Amino acid sequence: MNVFKLEEYLARYEFSAKYLLCCSDAESFAMSEIIAMADAQERDLWNHLRLGYTEAPGLPVLRETVAQELYNEFNAENILMFAGAEEGIFCALNAIIEEGDHVIVLTPCYQSLLEIPKSKGVNITAIQLKEENAWRIDLHATYDAIKPNTKCIIINFPHNPTGQVIEEEELKRLIDICQAKGIWLFSDEVYRLLGAPNNPLASPAACIYDKALSLGVMSKAFGMAGLRIGWIASQDKAILKKIEQMKHYTSICNSAPAEILSLISLKSKKTILERNNRIVADNLKLLDQFFLEYSNLFEWVRPQGGCIGFVKYKSKDSIESFCERLVNKQNVLLMPASIYDYQSNHFRIGFGRKNMLECLDQLKEFLHHENI
Ligand SMILES: Cc1ncc(COP(=O)(O)O)c(C=O)c1O
Repeated sequence: MNVFKLEEYLARYEFSAKYLLCCSDAESFAMSEIIAMADAQERDLWNHLRLGYTEAPGLPVLRETVAQELYNEFNAENILMFAGAEEGIFCALNAIIEEGDHVIVLTPCYQSLLEIPKSKGVNITAIQLKEENAWRIDLHATYDAIKPNTKCIIINFPHNPTGQVIEEEELKRLIDICQAKGIWLFSDEVYRLLGAPNNPLASPAACIYDKALSLGVMSKAFGMAGLRIGWIASQDKAILKKIEQMKHYTSICNSAPAEILSLISLKSKKTILERNNRIVADNLKLLDQFFLEYSNLFEWVRPQGGCIGFVKYKSKDSIESFCERLVNKQNVLLMPASIYDYQSNHFRIGFGRKNMLECLDQLKEFLHHENI
């Protein structure tokens, strides 16, 4: 398998650079803040928790809560828990994709969405999202890419790295295409519930298509990546069973404390999401101002979902060199497009954290010193 460029890049800088300006998760919470949100029953679960193995599909009450809070009319049977979203991608795509299949993936993308199918040696069509199309899904290109052996279409909206969303109408048209051909839709929705979409967010794909798998996680909108709790939601219990059998070869089961902390957080979803979405909205205002001030240097399609966007650096200077100088001289971390194997002068910026103003001040100081 190829090296996971994004994870390698973050491993190199994430815990040494002072100003992280490309993070894909919202501001985190302290353990004590989460415990303080627990009701009497949850506090009891926490206090009496025993640290043995847990149930392979996930704690039943947690699965039920994920279903009720996030997927209309689903119950615990429709939810399979994982160690983060990453394990969900690994297990699900390994369970679905077989030798001889054809798979369609939208790029640029979070590398494992492309890399896992590649590792299966199957035929892949990568459809590039285009900036001139505001990074929206091209349904014609997707339809035209379908072959008789197309097994699965892999999408990710709100999108990493552009923050573009899929509208309900677009999703329904895509599902019509999948349904007509019996194709699985793997829908990475880890950035749901965060951001400022122009229209209400599209439904989770799994709620409106019986061959869809919706991927969710505590890492992004809830800002709790350290819990390593993610899940796949689906109407199809047989495929969830097959995916669970893959999990027996990876983590086996979830971390017991992380399950309880996720349960408490999901029950306090309103408070947590309101705080994080307020941070995102405030940061977007700061960025609007920043891009106005530096319109000669930068431009972007304003993201609608999640807390990352893909910015074009309009200079002749290479973005790779720019990012390297920025982190070495000013301790500010951005992420160049090459990390996504995308040949352009774009970079990923993150705006889910409280210290945005400080980070932007550092970036401005760097621009000032470099006289660009
Ligand atoms: C689109 C997408 N899917 C999946 C993941 C993996 O999420 P987690 O870190 O919670 O496993 C990420 C993380 O950045 C992501 O951006």
